[in-house]
Amino acid sequence: MPDRPYTLLSCAMSIDGYIGSPGSRLLLSNDADFERVDEVRASCDAILVGAATVRMDNPRLLVRSPALREQRAARGARPSPMKVTVTRRLELDPHANFFTAGDVEKLVYCPSPRVPEARARLEPTATVVDGGEHVDMARLSGDLAARGVERLMVEGGGTVHTQFLTGDLADELQLVVAPLFVGDSDGTRFVRDGRFPWNPGQRATLSDVRQVGDVVLLRYALSSRFRAD
Ligand SMILES: NC(=O)c1ccc[n+]([C@@H]2O[C@H](COP(=O)([O-])OP(=O)(O)OC[C@H]3O[C@@H](n4cnc5c(N)ncnc54)[C@H](OP(=O)(O)O)[C@@H]3O)[C@@H](O)[C@H]2O)c1
Repeated sequence: MPDRPYTLLSCAMSIDGYIGSPGSRLLLSNDADFERVDEVRASCDAILVGAATVRMDNPRLLVRSPALREQRAARGARPSPMKVTVTRRLELDPHANFFTAGDVEKLVYCPSPRVPEARARLEPTATVVDGGEHVDMARLSGDLAARGVERLMVEGGGTVHTQFLTGDLADELQLVVAPLFVGDSDGTRFVRDGRFPWNPGQRATLSDVRQVGDVVLLRYALSSRFRAD
């Protein structure tokens, strides 16, 4: 069994590289792209987002299409993938959609010293997992694999994407560019500063480019495990 799931990073950004704007939720995708993302979600065993995304966007992270939900059920899976988040501060509302929407398992990874408080606040709504002294995405990925997660979708935000990319823990990046500018450096960028395996001396492999209405999908192969299907 591989030591981590096949890991697909999914992100929509503005032309100037922002995935979020200060103060309000930023709509970047269009309906056709939401449908595409729904299909990707349906193909995965787990979806991971950072705690800031849970707080700011309040996402449900469920497969929306009834047909896709039925297809999952027909192969013995829950209608939607498991949900996963990670937090240090534990400022998570147990009434957020992450916790209340969908009859699926929810995992919350946090640093060891915070585990007792996290369990008191979030269980039994979610399962709290001890992520170690500092939650490390390699360890988290290994733990997910041990729980049977073979295909992981990481839906952001930037802090989480940065750790998967700089940790060389991603097999694929699906990056959507929306035709708009945010133009405010208080917004959230796709990634933070870091040492990325893909840089001027080591370019990533562009596998596919597809127009989806008014956005463009760029698909990058980031490891030898990349599957183009
Ligand atoms: N366009 C898109 O595709 C897309 C997708 C998702 C999100 N977004 C946007 O992205 C923005 C949020 O992104 P963000 O970069 O600020 O935050 P984020 O990546 O969603 O979450 C960061 C938070 O996750 C927790 N975290 C991350 N790494 C951790 C680690 N190793 N150990 C423990 N906890 C860890 C911390 O939570 P605590 O603070 O609780 O400790 C941290 O503050 C929002 O504007 C949202 O709308 C855009």
